[in-house]
Amino acid sequence: MRRTSMMLAGAAGLAVAAFALAQDQSDEIAKYREMLAGDNPAELWEMKGEELWKAKAGPRQATLEACDLGKGPGVLKGAYAELPRYFKDTNKVMDLEQRLMYCRMTLQGLTEEQATAAHFGSTDKPSDIEPMVAYITAQSRGIKMNVPMNHPQEKRAYELGKQLFYYRGGSHDFACATCHSGDKMRIRMQDLPNLTKTKDAQAAYTTWPAYRVSQGEVRTMQHRLADCFRQQRFPEPMYGSEAITALTMFLARNANGGVYNGPALKR
Ligand code: HEC
Repeated sequence: MRRTSMMLAGAAGLAVAAFALAQDQSDEIAKYREMLAGDNPAELWEMKGEELWKAKAGPRQATLEACDLGKGPGVLKGAYAELPRYFKDTNKVMDLEQRLMYCRMTLQGLTEEQATAAHFGSTDKPSDIEPMVAYITAQSRGIKMNVPMNHPQEKRAYELGKQLFYYRGGSHDFACATCHSGDKMRIRMQDLPNLTKTKDAQAAYTTWPAYRVSQGEVRTMQHRLADCFRQQRFPEPMYGSEAITALTMFLARNANGGVYNGPALKR
């Protein structure tokens, strides 16, 4: 596994380099990408995720290989490009992380607490979820986003997500839209995508999850949104909540037609 150790060294280098990267400069990230010569440390998460996916676990000692992510049991290719979507068996619209939680509970017999443990990992408490999400999403690389909106519940989730996107509140009276519906907006040195525009929405959505250079971890969409709730001075949303799925539905559907290209590498 020469490649793995090389990439580990690369990841460690990046963590150190992240110090030097006090504030975002898009060209700095471009330089790191060049340095890595196309290697993204997220590949390590993908590899670990594949192992976890295929390993017997939980009270039922089952693997997750029979998990249905919307395209039939065990079908991973292209599944993420069509999520969130309506699932008949739960009668709910679910995003990837909710569905993964559901599969771990139903197939492996984990409790909800176990299936959501360390959903945002750290060095001393690594996540099983982030690697599995990296593995699953990677199977949609190169595939066009094609989030369905046929079922009434899919439409409902989209509308709810849209309302949440424009809902103002909190100490600063911010909405997602405050920071993400103008062109060429920046906070400090960070470019803010205009998520109401197809091109920006596609570029943003199709690159999550991402290996965050500043955090040395692969972060999922749930993490991205939890962090933006923080930026909005809202209380931290519940992991896997209906509100996050609705917002994800709004963002994902607006990215339809964009080619999925995650897990990516970000500041
Ligand atoms: C106070 C401003 C602010 C608010 C409010 C805010 N965000 Fe953000 N958002 C940011 C910043 C800053 C970044 C870039 C963060 C970084 O690079 O670390 C970002 C990044 C993102 C990204 C990733 C973009 C990419 O290209 O990778 C998404 C998606 C996103 N926000 C969605 C939302 C949603 C949905 C909401 C409402 C719940 C929201 N944001 C509220 C400031 C905000």
